[in-house]
Amino acid sequence: MAYAAEVKNIVKKFQSVTAVNDVSFSVNEGEIFGFLGPNGAGKTTLIRILTCLMKPTSGQASIRGIDVVKHPSLVRRNIGVVSQALTSDLDLTAYENLNIYGKYFDVPKKERKESIDYLLGKVDLKDRAKDLVATYSGGMRRRLEIARGLIHKPYILFLDEPTIGLDPQSRRVIWELLQKIRKETGLTIFITTHYMDEADVLCDRIGIIDYGKIVALDSPANLKRTIGGFDIIEVTLGNFGPEGMEKLKAMPFVKSVTEKDESLRIYVEDAAKSMPVLFEEFKKTGVIIEYLAIHEQTLEDVFIHYTGKTIREAETQKVNFFIGAGAPRRMPGARI
Ligand SMILES: Nc1ncnc2c1ncn2[C@@H]1O[C@H](COP(=O)(O)OP(=O)(O)OP(=O)(O)O)[C@@H](O)[C@H]1O
Ligand SMILES: [Mg+2]
Repeated sequence: MAYAAEVKNIVKKFQSVTAVNDVSFSVNEGEIFGFLGPNGAGKTTLIRILTCLMKPTSGQASIRGIDVVKHPSLVRRNIGVVSQALTSDLDLTAYENLNIYGKYFDVPKKERKESIDYLLGKVDLKDRAKDLVATYSGGMRRRLEIARGLIHKPYILFLDEPTIGLDPQSRRVIWELLQKIRKETGLTIFITTHYMDEADVLCDRIGIIDYGKIVALDSPANLKRTIGGFDIIEVTLGNFGPEGMEKLKAMPFVKSVTEKDESLRIYVEDAAKSMPVLFEEFKKTGVIIEYLAIHEQTLEDVFIHYTGKTIREAETQKVNFFIGAGAPRRMPGARI
């Protein structure tokens, strides 16, 4: 059986920028697959290639075994797209927006009406179906755009940062909605995000992308497991030198230690058990604890592990780089 989506050695270059740099992966049928990465990582570019809006510089990509460059019209019938920019018509009602899209995809009248009713119910917009989209909140518009992407019953739905700018409650509503639709219809979902929690809660598997390259790809649980240790003790220490570091690393319960700015991240299996021993050792050797925090591993830690920076730092660096280079960070017309 063909994969829902398959990408082989895709490269996309824009003049001097390599937006996607030799990326390969496959998406299984019925799975929610996520691309997690900071601004400018190449997420939208990859979605544009998979949804036939842009040709790759080299490499192959297919949807359900159908090549996106050779057979774009066949691919388009199999895909639904919810773009990063909001594109529903503000001067029309939700019903009218969906109806126009249904017509565009040649969905017959009776089926179209049934589909619109079903989808409006699913995205909880039935009561507002006859109101102009201009009167909607951001969350309602996003939900409408998800319904619109599903009007022709696609095989796979692409969503480019579907919850960006929404409040936590509205984001959760969207996650639940996508999970419910997947369960009911077996739809395959491909999502991009730069929210760690979103990728963690929603996706069966995640590809972490940075500077156009996949740096890790697995289920959220496996990604966290493979970086070793289950709790992180973050400390800033005084009176602590290389000798102390050697000792710390040699302690039997310490999986690994990484340094970030002024603080240390000590990876341990069980923070509750390790802390008293650790404190005792610090006390004995005159080390002072200036700052302490304990947390369970998150995808943020996975991101740090593979890229050496937090996702926020990655975004700041990218902004600085582009401001420094005098080039716009967001290219006009680059959105879908
Ligand atoms: N049409 C274009 N012309 C030139 N460069 C482009 C174009 N589209 C994208 N880029 C560049 O390619 C890189 C990847 O951009 P892309 O939009 O795919 O990133 P992204 O991961 O979607 O980021 P964001 O989170 O900001 O949406 C960036 O450096 C961007 O400036
Ligand atoms: Mg993008």
